Amino acid sequence: MKLGACWYPEQHPESRWGDDVRRMSAAGLTLVRLGEFAWAALEPAPGEMDLAWLARAIDMAAEAGLGVVLGTPSAAPPRWLIRSHPEIRLVDVDGSPRAAGSRRMTCPTAPVYRESSARMARALVERFGHHPGVVAWQIDNEPGNHDSARCWCPACETAFRAWVAARYGELARLNDAWGTAFWSGQYGSWDELELPRRSSTVQSPSLLLAHRRFASHQVVSGLAEQRAIIAAGSAGRDILVNTYWDDTFVDARDVHEPAGIAAIDAYPHGVDGPEANAYLLDLARGSAGPSGRAWVMEQQPGPINWTALNPPVPPGQVRAWGWQAALHGMEASLFFSWRPTRSGQEQYHSGLVRHDGTDDRGLIEAAVLARELRAVADSAPEMLARPRARIAILHAYEDAWAIEIDPHQAGLTHRSLVQPVHAAVHRLGLDADILGPRDDLTGHTVVIAPALHLMSEDRLRRLREAIAAGALVILGPRSLVKDLDDCWLETPLPGGLAATLGAHVVESLSQTLPVTVVPGDAAAGPWTDVLEVDVADDDPEPVEVLARYGGPSYLAGSIAALRRGDLAYVGASSAEAWSTILAPLLIGRGLAVLPARVGVERFERGGRRIVLDHVALTIKGSPELDPGAA
Ligand code: GAL
Repeated sequence: MKLGACWYPEQHPESRWGDDVRRMSAAGLTLVRLGEFAWAALEPAPGEMDLAWLARAIDMAAEAGLGVVLGTPSAAPPRWLIRSHPEIRLVDVDGSPRAAGSRRMTCPTAPVYRESSARMARALVERFGHHPGVVAWQIDNEPGNHDSARCWCPACETAFRAWVAARYGELARLNDAWGTAFWSGQYGSWDELELPRRSSTVQSPSLLLAHRRFASHQVVSGLAEQRAIIAAGSAGRDILVNTYWDDTFVDARDVHEPAGIAAIDAYPHGVDGPEANAYLLDLARGSAGPSGRAWVMEQQPGPINWTALNPPVPPGQVRAWGWQAALHGMEASLFFSWRPTRSGQEQYHSGLVRHDGTDDRGLIEAAVLARELRAVADSAPEMLARPRARIAILHAYEDAWAIEIDPHQAGLTHRSLVQPVHAAVHRLGLDADILGPRDDLTGHTVVIAPALHLMSEDRLRRLREAIAAGALVILGPRSLVKDLDDCWLETPLPGGLAATLGAHVVESLSQTLPVTVVPGDAAAGPWTDVLEVDVADDDPEPVEVLARYGGPSYLAGSIAALRRGDLAYVGASSAEAWSTILAPLLIGRGLAVLPARVGVERFERGGRRIVLDHVALTIKGSPELDPGAA
């Protein structure tokens, strides 16, 4: 894994630049990202490009031996552009346009914004597309972040109407698909189809889901315009887009897959602990498509400024985060940022060096990490090659949107259902690949779909293909419950697979009772499905009950998990319940289960076992990794 830093020469005096890049290089960093917020410095007035300073910065970085990742600045357009074309401002649901002075305040549909972004990309690629120091590109910055994919402006409303009309054709079909008879919601003409504005209570989930799809599509198509421009003028370089790792504003798979490489921004203090980090790193790899290539484009270097508490980062933590990224198969990791600024919105955000330019602990640990990674790359490169896992976990942004729209329990998210399954697999000492709805599922021994909420013929076909190829398929609670328009199925659940399962779901519960899973006594988790068997005991393919619910409630003794042949259903949702139920199933499929303590990750890489302890902040398992040797 290569290391780098995010660098903002336009925010610091030029007299510092040379020293900055030489120190990066001396610390063992080999990549530097720049430019992604510099639009106003690059185009200070309409039609007036100033690329000379950027050329000097790129040259200096290249001379210091750094590979430059050049960003296109569409996340932060200049004030003059917003002033002369106020229609490019994003309009929030309450009707107020976002003001200049921040970032991600633009409408993803606005033609002037899209054309201006394309113009900047063209100017940059014409000048730097063949620069030997430019090794990769970054388009935009965290598209969708700050809830910037959905816009309620007139241009978006017109585009949304056209998008829906193209998808459904006939109004009658739309009314039927969305079940608009509920609360007199029928559309009598296309003009009546409005963006989901605030009303007395929530809008139709079908409309809301369509709006999420449309918003994501608008963002992705804008990124594709920039990508085409860069690809045409800078052959042979990766073109990445950095998404915030936990965002669901856009379908990150649609963002990354066309490039065959993903990039995420990893801020562990923004999520809940090492298991979340592990999950999100694997999700990044999975969202690149079959290549599984991913970078961490921004890595937390120390305390940050935007969570509720912004806690301290203890010694050893930055190095441990780096190792975690490397062992999850990231190709590069760039720290955000090199040096904090004296001004602006992020003054409390640490960097690798301090405000006064002296080395911060982040830089010292980055240098240790760089040395260790180099040593491993020389002596045992196979340790950093992420092997294909034998377990696949299914993830889909459309399911995430449907669950966010109608969670049934406040705060419940797709991640809170899928991450526990990833954690359970990891706690059993195994890796998991996270695959998307378009991926081929036939290459894994076990395929788990923890929250495959929406049902489609295509999804069913892929699951059946996995079973036909010899995999065990395991569904989780609320799987195959609704159609692609977010309307509940009127067939036995799991929709389309109940007959194969020989069982069906009788209760889908937002769980508030003290329910456990037996065997064991793990809490069942926030979502629990109760199952009932449909086939007789003497059926040629009988149903095996794997677990029942326990605890002092009416649910005691009812079925929590079962299996019939190569299809299983787990109704519980906590990591502990999943671990208990999964262990025998995985052993039954020939997987070497080796339970690890929570807080410890174990990796089998190149015939070695590496243990990353997130509590003690140690990495053990091979001489090269001994902290003392570094
Ligand atoms: C990221 C963003 C960076 C910076 C960073 C602070 O989400 O891409 O530009 O704001 O957060 O942690």
